[in-house]
Amino acid sequence: MVLSSLPRHVGLIMDGNGRWAKKRLMPRTLGHNAGMNAMIELARHSKELGINYLTVYTLSTENLANRPKDELEGIFNLLRKYFSVYVKKLYKNGARVKVIGDISPLPADVKKLLEDGEKNSPATADFTLTFAINYGGRAEIVRAVKALGACGEQICEEALSKYMYTAELPDPDLIIRTGGEVRLSNFLLWQAAYAELYFTPVLFPDFSCDEFDKALEEFAKRNRRFGGV
Ligand code: FPP
Repeated sequence: MVLSSLPRHVGLIMDGNGRWAKKRLMPRTLGHNAGMNAMIELARHSKELGINYLTVYTLSTENLANRPKDELEGIFNLLRKYFSVYVKKLYKNGARVKVIGDISPLPADVKKLLEDGEKNSPATADFTLTFAINYGGRAEIVRAVKALGACGEQICEEALSKYMYTAELPDPDLIIRTGGEVRLSNFLLWQAAYAELYFTPVLFPDFSCDEFDKALEEFAKRNRRFGGV
């Protein structure tokens, strides 16, 4: 695939795992399981293509508050598995993981795995996989405003950006949402100001590398003007 422009940072809203499972008369947790496998493939593919950052919406603050306990436990188990087993392969390939969101209410062992996952990542890497966990865009902005206010710095966009979870990441160039809904659902609200948006009805476990490439092809055709002419 030869593209005229490649996004540096892609955000991914991985929606449709539950419906994918329901269609197969399977528990929702198995849908999330299949979703994790799809995500692992997409991370590998993104890195190979030369995309530098992939940020995946794994659990919103609203998901954590409103999903049944057993479904949340299923997602925690996937995090346990990813951050104790799969993450090592990512490191080996010279990539790092990062976590954004408020992980303080998560089970202690999961929290520790996530912290260790970041700590053990290579210091420099050409690919960063960021997990948004118990993340909400509005909460992130409020948190940043409070931190900025507390240190008495002058309030401006640049200063506020420094207090976002994503301070060290470039803004996303492309945000993809699978599963047919056409909204951002509180994902990277501040950072998405000039992101190109791509929506597809494909349910996340079926969102293959070929489907991802379609989004990249569409991105390459977009005319990004950033407010100019
Ligand atoms: C939304 O689909 C998806 C989630 C709330 C969880 C996404 C998590 C994964 C894909 C696993 C990620 C990897 C790790 C390592 C944890 P939904 O359940 O809302 O689907 P529905 O809209 O069809 O009900």
